[in-house]
Amino acid sequence: MKGIILAGGTGTRLYPLTFALSKQLLPVYDKPMIYYPLSTLMLGGVRDFLVISTPTDLPLFQKALGDGAELGLRISYAEQPQAAGIADAFRVGAEFVGSDSVSLVLGDNIFHSPELPDVLARSMKDVDGCVLFGHSVADPRPYGVVEKAPDGRVIGIEEKPSKPRSSEIATGLYIYSNDVVEIAHSITPSARGELEITDVNRVYLQQGRARLHSFGAETTWLDAGTYDGLLDATHFVREQQRSGGRIACLEEIALRRGYIDAGSCYSLGKKHKNSGYGQYVMEIASDTRWGRLTYVAQ
Ligand code: TTP
Repeated sequence: MKGIILAGGTGTRLYPLTFALSKQLLPVYDKPMIYYPLSTLMLGGVRDFLVISTPTDLPLFQKALGDGAELGLRISYAEQPQAAGIADAFRVGAEFVGSDSVSLVLGDNIFHSPELPDVLARSMKDVDGCVLFGHSVADPRPYGVVEKAPDGRVIGIEEKPSKPRSSEIATGLYIYSNDVVEIAHSITPSARGELEITDVNRVYLQQGRARLHSFGAETTWLDAGTYDGLLDATHFVREQQRSGGRIACLEEIALRRGYIDAGSCYSLGKKHKNSGYGQYVMEIASDTRWGRLTYVAQ
């Protein structure tokens, strides 16, 4: 399973914050925004990533994340010259996807849920078609509203309806079988000139191959792409971390999943020991549950 993080776009709703800096690099409390969607796919077991962004911003993402090797990941990068739509990710990323299935997460979407690792691992196994992830919101009108049959099959997708038929909307997390690349090449741009992900999902719906996982109340989903969304996300992360844990700590996930050992994890934390983040990474690496630290780089 490959993973694409879509981190381009224009970020106009956040102007002037995004005049000089990409939205997905803005801080969400103690980390750049992109850490959160990256951690989401990591929790599902994805290790091979493509980050897509604008030609101007891409070098900054490379600086922030590198090639992933230190975390036991592979992170590659591709330019999206124009904001040509979410489904354009599968044209830009066609070569990267190759013959695999692929997950896509929007770079400004934050998920937090105890069920995430299990749900993602299950949904990523033997995928045939697409899996969408729904969340109930108070006002679904600005979103893609989804309806499902009792067996989980999607039976309706409506983009920004004035009279929504349900309160459940499709979040920015998607899993597809390999034919998504072909489907993305077959659709035509919408009136606003974008390749719409809804049009891709409708193809699967028509084929009876679209499924919806509905996140429950224990799942928090935040779109950090507005002033309030960004502030809510910051407050949420701060609150969650008050008890001492950390959300979206990439080194911790890599350690827990066995991609890196305690010694390498400790060294990664030590590089940033002046920050609470670095200290946390050193702390979790020192936990005896990982065995005695046998190697600690100076
Ligand atoms: P949006 O938030 O819908 O668009 P945007 O980021 O351009 O912001 P705004 O509406 O404020 O102008 O995009 C959702 C996510 O998808 C976001 O992380 C950016 C990304 N995206 C791309 O990378 N390329 C695209 O062509 C589009 C449409 C979005």
